[in-house]
Amino acid sequence: MKSSVLSLFLLSIICTTSCGHGEEDSFPTFSALPIPETLPFDNLLSFDYYNQRCPQLEQIIHTKLKQWVAKDHTLAASLLRLHFHDCFATGCDASILLNHEGSERRAEASKTLRGFQVIDDIKVEVEKSCPAIVSCTDILTAATRDATVLLGGPYWRVPYGRKDSRISNVKDAEMVPSGRESITTLLELFQSRGLNLIDLVVLSGAHTIGRTSCGAIQRRLYQGLNGTSSMPNPPLDDHYLDFLQRKCRCASGDYVDLDATTPTTFDSQFYANLQKNMGLLSTDQMLYSDPRTSPIVNSLIGAPSLFIHQFSASMVRLANIQVLSGLDEVGEIRTNCNFVNSYNT
Ligand code: HEM
Repeated sequence: MKSSVLSLFLLSIICTTSCGHGEEDSFPTFSALPIPETLPFDNLLSFDYYNQRCPQLEQIIHTKLKQWVAKDHTLAASLLRLHFHDCFATGCDASILLNHEGSERRAEASKTLRGFQVIDDIKVEVEKSCPAIVSCTDILTAATRDATVLLGGPYWRVPYGRKDSRISNVKDAEMVPSGRESITTLLELFQSRGLNLIDLVVLSGAHTIGRTSCGAIQRRLYQGLNGTSSMPNPPLDDHYLDFLQRKCRCASGDYVDLDATTPTTFDSQFYANLQKNMGLLSTDQMLYSDPRTSPIVNSLIGAPSLFIHQFSASMVRLANIQVLSGLDEVGEIRTNCNFVNSYNT
C-alpha cells in the first residue's frame, strides 16, 4: 500500500506540473487519486458484501477461470476487454452480456468481443451455491481481476454489490472507443464517466496483452497510402508497418498482438513501444505525442512499477462507473447472464 500511495503521489505531481498547457487548460488539474482501500463508495459497494451471503464466491470464480484460461490463455485478455466495454457503454451493469436482438452484444462494435461463455459457466456454478444472490456484473468484475492476475498483472480487492441492468441497446455499444478517436475525444469520453487523464493513459496499458483483429487496424495500416500522405499518421515504425501489412494482407479475420515486444507479459513495455513508434492503435501511439498524456507515458516508461500499482487503482475506478447498487430499483440479480429475469420465468 505504501508504494501505491507513492505512485499516486508521483503521478499527481506529474499531472499538476505538466497537464495544464494550451488546449488542455479546459481539463482539470489532478492533485490526488482515490486509493482503492479507502475509497468511500457512495453507491454502497463494499468489500465484504458477499462475506455472509456467498462466502465461497471468489473461490468459485478463481477455480473456474483458471480452468478456462488453461484451455485457452487468450480468454484472459478478452475478459478484460469485455469488462471495459460493459462499463463504458452504460455503466458496469452486465448490459453487454444480454443476448437479444438489438442488444449491445449484437452491435457491430461488439463483434470481436469474447469470453461470454466463461461468465456463463461461472454463473451456473455460483447459482448452485448461492442462488439469486450474485450479480453477473460482480462476476464479470471479479473474473477480470483474476484474469489480470493470471496474466501476471496486479491483484486488487474488488468491492461488490452491483446489480444487473434490465436494458441493453445496440446503439450504446458505439459509445465505446474504437481506436480512431483523437486524444481530446478520448479524454472527454473518460471524463464523462468519472475517469481522468491518468486513468486514460494507465488503462490503455491493458493493451500490454491481447490482440487486435486485422479488421480493426485496416485504416491504420493503409491510411494515406492512396490519399494525401504516404505514411500512417500517427507514425508507425517502417519495419513494423511492413510486418503488419504482410500479416494482415489476406484475411481481416487474422489477429496481431497489441504489444509488439512482450505480448504475453503484463508489463509497462507497451509504453516503451510507443517511444519507438510501435503503437498498434492510433489512439495508443497518440498517447506518446500528445502533450497532455506524454508526461505520464514518459513517467511510466521510467518507472515500470508505477504502471502495476496505478493499474489496480484505475481498474477499481473503472468498475465503479455508474453502477446499479442496493438502492436502485432498476437493477436485478439475473439468474442467467444472457437474459433478464422476466424472460427466464
Ligand atoms: C482508451 C481507449 C481504448 C481504445 C480506443 C481501445 C481499442 C481497442 C481495440 C480497437 C482493440 C482491438 C479490437 C478488435 O480486435 O476488434 C482492443 C483490444 C483490447 N482492449 Fe482496448 N481500447 C481502449 C481501452 C481499453 C481499456 C480501458 C481496456 C481494459 C482495461 C482495454 C483492454 C483491451 C484488451 C485486453 C484488448 C485485447 C482483447 C483480446 O485479446 O481479445 N482496452 N482495444
